[in-house]
Amino acid sequence: MRERGRVGILISGRGSNMVSLVEAMRAGRIAADPVVVLSNLPAAEGLRRAAEFGIPTEVVDHKEVKPRRTHDAAVVAVLKRYEVDLVCLAGYMRLLSPVMVDTFRARMLNIHPSLLPAFPGLDAQRQALEYGVKVAGCTVHFVDEKCDRGPILLQAAVPVLGDDTEASLSRRILEQEHVLYPQAVALFFEGLRTTAV
Ligand code: GAR
Repeated sequence: MRERGRVGILISGRGSNMVSLVEAMRAGRIAADPVVVLSNLPAAEGLRRAAEFGIPTEVVDHKEVKPRRTHDAAVVAVLKRYEVDLVCLAGYMRLLSPVMVDTFRARMLNIHPSLLPAFPGLDAQRQALEYGVKVAGCTVHFVDEKCDRGPILLQAAVPVLGDDTEASLSRRILEQEHVLYPQAVALFFEGLRTTAV
């Protein structure tokens, strides 16, 4: 086991969870470093933010590299080149093929804005409002073959208020995501440290 872990972060959009992870690593709250930020979309805003942190960025454009398993094999090749110990999906809006899931089994985490197994997939916050649940939240889990499924590492609950809109609920859940994901990644590396021989 290395002194400090190596984390690859996968994004498709603005990358606010990526930023929360990077800040926690840089502040020493996680015994690991962000070694690459990768996106399937060249225009993902988070790529620019990662570059501002001085983190190497990579793009594997899913519109150019097809089909899905070929795209995922290319992503795996990049992550192996950077020798990542852990992959963090942070708003990476792609279904994963077995090559990704098998390569990083028990070494890939995802964050999702619901209390899984409720409301997997897109627009989780809207699903929660439409269903009428009184408690929403977010989940960090290990990734398995299914979308937004796999062993749960941590969850945080967020009350749904009477006047909540999708935007207001999403904002309060996101605040909790930014606390929960760094805690989960810190736990992952603490676990490796205490079980390493
Ligand atoms: C976050 O709310 C994350 O939980 C969600 O996408 C958003 C990305 O925001 N992920 C999923 O819905 C996964 N199924 P960010 O780019 O600002 O981190």
